[in-house]
Amino acid sequence: MNDGTRRILILGGTGEASALARALAGRRDLSVTLSLAGRTSAPKREPVPTRIGGFGGTEGLARYLCAEGFDRLIDATHPFAARISSNAARAAALAGVQLLAIRRPAWSPAPGDLWTEVATVEAAVAALGPDPRRVFLTIGRQEAGAFAAAPQHAYWARTVEPLGDLLPVPHLTAIEARGPFDAESEAALIRTAGIEILVSKNSGGAATYGKIAAARALAIPVVMVRRPDKPDVPSVADAARALSWLDTDAHAASTLRDV
Ligand SMILES: NC(=O)c1ccc[n+]([C@@H]2O[C@H](COP(=O)([O-])OP(=O)(O)OC[C@H]3O[C@@H](n4cnc5c(N)ncnc54)[C@H](OP(=O)(O)O)[C@@H]3O)[C@@H](O)[C@H]2O)c1
Repeated sequence: MNDGTRRILILGGTGEASALARALAGRRDLSVTLSLAGRTSAPKREPVPTRIGGFGGTEGLARYLCAEGFDRLIDATHPFAARISSNAARAAALAGVQLLAIRRPAWSPAPGDLWTEVATVEAAVAALGPDPRRVFLTIGRQEAGAFAAAPQHAYWARTVEPLGDLLPVPHLTAIEARGPFDAESEAALIRTAGIEILVSKNSGGAATYGKIAAARALAIPVVMVRRPDKPDVPSVADAARALSWLDTDAHAASTLRDV
């Protein structure tokens, strides 16, 4: 851009991306675009220009960064969105655009937690065991279908978008809801449904920690899916630190221009 504003692309789909977009809205020194994959039909709108849909892989993203004249790329995607983060790392290098990732810290087990940690959703299915159990399934919609391999269990599956026929099992209660969820309401759901085991991704963050705290309080075991690996790039833990990075960087850039 030649009007003195710097162009920032935020790869979103998380609370951190939304918080950063809100914090940057109205900044006259920056021109901010938020990018969403398009997985949710009615995403919460943020007060910055938003584009929706994939870029067409690494090369597509690199082309987009160059064509639109972006100066900085912020990967604020979900800890389990591994492909876009890997694309972002390679595309930023190809396009010569500086990249910062927001990497939300993972949850760690606390005293009283009854976790079985597994590497994949398929391993989570196996970890439920052969005997029928009442399962609270909170891994999202995209991978829920894996649990069709264990139809002996009764599932309470919570997703943002309707599950449709993605989980064809005889005993399914589909719950459509968008977080945050607090520990009290999660405990009430666990008690009312008679849940015996919780399946969760290790997403980290406060918005969905209520179920983990509730499971601990009620001595409910948790099958916890570990995070996939993400590329080793400069990163911060939250939106506030990303904002500081941009501001430090903006200051450094304006100092350089003044020289
Ligand atoms: N996976 C989860 O558990 C989870 C949970 C909550 C929110 N989300 C959000 O949902 C989105 C999709 O997650 P995923 O696990 O399907 O991702 P993924 O497997 O890493 O990405 C698959 C493809 O979706 C497109 N994509 C992903 N994020 C995008 C973004 N922010 N803007 C534009 N295109 C994007 C890219 O398509 P192209 O290759 O065509 O560019 C990417 O290759 C992510 O943005 C993530 O932040 C994911």
